[in-house]
Amino acid sequence: MSYSQRPVKIKDRLAEMRAKAALGGGQQRIAQQHAKGKLTARERIDLVLDEGSFTELDAFVLARPTELIPDDERVMGDGVVTGFGRIGGRVAYIFSQDFTVFGGSLAEAHAQKICKVMDLAVKTGAPIIGLNDSGGARIQEGVVSLGGYADIFLRNVLSSGVVPQISAIMGPCAGGAVYSPAITDFVVMVRDTSYMFVTGPNVVKTVTHEDVTLDELGGADVHAHRSGVAHFEADDEVSCAALLRRLVGFLPSNNLDPAPIVATEDAPDREDAALDGIVPTASNKPYDMKEVIRRVVDDEDVLEVHEGWAQNIICAFARLDGRSVGVVAQQPMILAGVLDIDASVKAARFVRFCDAFNIPLVTFVDVPGFLPGTAQEHAGIIRNGAKLLYAYAEATVPKLTVITRKAYGGAYDVMSSKHLRGDYNVAWPSAEIAVMGPEGAVNVIYRDEIAKAKDPDQRRTQLVGEYVERFANPYVAAAHGYLDDVIEPRETRPRLVAALRSLASKRDANPRRKHGNIPL
Ligand code: HXC
Repeated sequence: MSYSQRPVKIKDRLAEMRAKAALGGGQQRIAQQHAKGKLTARERIDLVLDEGSFTELDAFVLARPTELIPDDERVMGDGVVTGFGRIGGRVAYIFSQDFTVFGGSLAEAHAQKICKVMDLAVKTGAPIIGLNDSGGARIQEGVVSLGGYADIFLRNVLSSGVVPQISAIMGPCAGGAVYSPAITDFVVMVRDTSYMFVTGPNVVKTVTHEDVTLDELGGADVHAHRSGVAHFEADDEVSCAALLRRLVGFLPSNNLDPAPIVATEDAPDREDAALDGIVPTASNKPYDMKEVIRRVVDDEDVLEVHEGWAQNIICAFARLDGRSVGVVAQQPMILAGVLDIDASVKAARFVRFCDAFNIPLVTFVDVPGFLPGTAQEHAGIIRNGAKLLYAYAEATVPKLTVITRKAYGGAYDVMSSKHLRGDYNVAWPSAEIAVMGPEGAVNVIYRDEIAKAKDPDQRRTQLVGEYVERFANPYVAAAHGYLDDVIEPRETRPRLVAALRSLASKRDANPRRKHGNIPL
């Protein structure tokens, strides 16, 4: 007997089962979720994926039987909706925790469902997106839940650098549960409704006697501006979903495929005369490096990563000639673009992501050096600054560097210099490349002469002028071949596009080894 000839009851059963599974923890809990300003697990998936593209897996999976949960409370799906669909036409795997079922808590079956889609993502070379909204380990299942977390952590680590992993935090994410998103490549948090912390306000109160709210301890603002745990913050779930889609659009599906090429009307040979006047004549005057980036890339389209954290350095995805690039740049408007611990860590992770996924790096340099002082030294600027140096040095993707103004001291070396295998290194005529800034240099090498001068201040000014003339320009570096050229600022886009095209077939590799030992 064919399926269509079977008694109606059998077909009804499937429809019934599907409807029941789709309801998760029931209408009342769905209403509670909406009342909190949150969407359901399925509504979120529909926003993230291309319309109608979602195929659900494991909808009928039941929680493992435990003494503490009666059989009739074992909800189908076990508190997480998993499956695959498309984003911008490309396959993506997704899991979305369902807070209406035991608070989205993670139990054995729940974890197995997540592991299944993570494994499929790696097998098929597609991004994996996790929408987190969970009360943590399911208390009724005890240690089995902890095992489930570890199974996910292992997969996060083994998938790292193979497929992009993206986490959105759309509710609670606490305790050890935070470490799965923390390993993923990007974390997006929704303002007001999401929080992440290792220990909640009650434990904090007991241990440190601090009174702190959920938001103050681990809300989106805290992690997007202070801790750097979140790469993006979104005003609400709808804009969070839009951001996830936009981010995926810049990325390749895996470490072997190229990123999608996006057709543009923005001509590859477009010059921009406004760039010629953007760097102020006084070398201590700030200007907005974001404007430089916007004027150079395709269609002024820039997606900043960690926009609110360590703002003295900019990390962003953009496109040149339709191809994704990772842009790293100092921001002279914040702390004069100095490299400090947070800036080094932020950029190092971004550089490593781009390298892992073959996204070329475009670096704009205007760096006065590393930030001096006991606070930075005692907190480990040496150890942390080394991360950025390491990341640039090991990167084998095409590396394009434009020095717009300052490139002083060790920071010159670090910022994608020729010596770290920079492929196309150019400077604007306003570039100053030297061991240190003119004032500092003159005070060291002419200390005695200045002290003995009739008018020390006048002599110092004169010597600074001579130093600037001799060293603080791009031509000494260019004479050594450390720069491939000195270019007019207006030509930056055509030059970068030409270089990027020439480097499309770049092959470079590091020595064979188990893995390097980045100074963590
Ligand atoms: C089982 C849970 C649960 C959990 C919530 N629920 N968390 N069930 N295990 N971990 C259930 C609640 O009993 C409730 O069920 C429903 O989910 C909604 O929870 P509410 O408390 O009503 O919601 P809300 O007021 O929004 O508070 C959310 C919350 C709170 C802050 C997350 O539920 C909470 O503090 N939960 C416990 C968090 C926790 O301590 N988890 C374990 C952390 S240890 P009903 O039936 O009433 O709707 C951990 C270790 C991970 O996670 C280690 C990994 C290595």
